[in-house]
Amino acid sequence: MAVEKTLPGASAGRTVLVTGGAGYIGSHAVLQLLLAGFRAVVIDNLNNSSELAVRRVAALAGDHSRNLSFHKIDLRDKGALEMVFASTRFEAVIHFAGLKAVGESVQKPLLYYDNNVIGTINLLEVMSVHGCKKLVFSSSAAVYGSPKNSPCTENFPLTPNNPYGKTKLVVEDICRDIYRSDPEWKIILLRYFNPVGAHPSGYLGEDPRGIPNNLMPYVQQVAVGRRPALTVLGNDYATRDGTGVILLHMMCLIVFFWYTIQID
Ligand SMILES: NC(=O)c1ccc[n+]([C@@H]2O[C@H](COP(=O)([O-])OP(=O)(O)OC[C@H]3O[C@@H](n4cnc5c(N)ncnc54)[C@H](O)[C@@H]3O)[C@@H](O)[C@H]2O)c1
Ligand SMILES: *[C@@H]1O[C@H](CO)[C@@H](O)[C@H](O)[C@H]1NC(C)=O
Ligand SMILES: *[C@@H]1O[C@H](CO)[C@@H](O)[C@H](O)[C@H]1NC(C)=O
Ligand SMILES: *[C@@H]1O[C@H](CO)[C@@H](O)[C@H](O)[C@H]1NC(C)=O
Repeated sequence: MAVEKTLPGASAGRTVLVTGGAGYIGSHAVLQLLLAGFRAVVIDNLNNSSELAVRRVAALAGDHSRNLSFHKIDLRDKGALEMVFASTRFEAVIHFAGLKAVGESVQKPLLYYDNNVIGTINLLEVMSVHGCKKLVFSSSAAVYGSPKNSPCTENFPLTPNNPYGKTKLVVEDICRDIYRSDPEWKIILLRYFNPVGAHPSGYLGEDPRGIPNNLMPYVQQVAVGRRPALTVLGNDYATRDGTGVILLHMMCLIVFFWYTIQID
């Protein structure tokens, strides 16, 4: 993650819009953009993040923090998006903003389609009006549903099995259609699984509001004493008591070494 030198393209006054830039992955990406010499404009509605993450990015970026600005905006507020694009010419957009709780998406599908799909349509419309045609979209491995075998490769069938994954596939399809209608668009769709890790400074990491839906932030919150205990699930694994305890041992080891390294 150490991109410390200025990239050749960055000197021409290039500005990148990062949606969801206060979030876990977005905040790390913004820091690397700044260190690489880009200007970065972050928009985030702070639903699952805090402005503190943006301030930490600024602190870690040192002098480069002059090139960072933040707007508390919801992607579904098209007027607000329009104002941001009217004031700045963006070279490209990296689009991380979205809700990502799979279980919640099953309970509240309309909220997920509204936030993830309508929000993205607004963004694409405003980009198009302002002639900004470069996009990196944070899709998800959830577009594969439950892959039949492993490893899952890029050409596996796209059969998401929950509303969250479906919102990602709908947005991917919209992107492919936009490209077909106008090949000047350059779009990258990233489909990742659950990333783990944090900035080596210990000042940036995964710090969700409420109860984490992913194991790693949960283990971390128990490790620092914010939560009392972790429930170990499962009853038919090939372990002493049938729970997924082995995976957990591995996770705890990772967290242990990680904190040891931070303290050193
Ligand atoms: N972390 C993972 O395991 C994982 C895996 C695959 C894909 N993704 C995708 O990557 C992206 C970033 O994930 P993350 O782990 O950093 O999540 P995150 O929740 O930390 O970051 C998402 C950010 O988007 C913001 N946001 C949500 N809806 C918004 C809206 N309507 N307008 C403006 N801001 C909004 C949230 O406040 C948050 O800061 C998401 O789109 C997620 O679906 C994440
Ligand atoms: C700020 O961004 C501009 C435009 O990309 C770049 O030329 C300049 O070097 C950056 N400044 C810092 C301190 O990174
Ligand atoms: C974030 O979105 C959730 C829906 O996932 C909603 O219930 C909650 O009120 C929002 N929280 C904030 C802080 O905006
Ligand atoms: C908030 O982030 C956490 C961890 O990054 C995740 O587990 C949770 O699903 C997110 N919530 C929403 C509503 O996206």
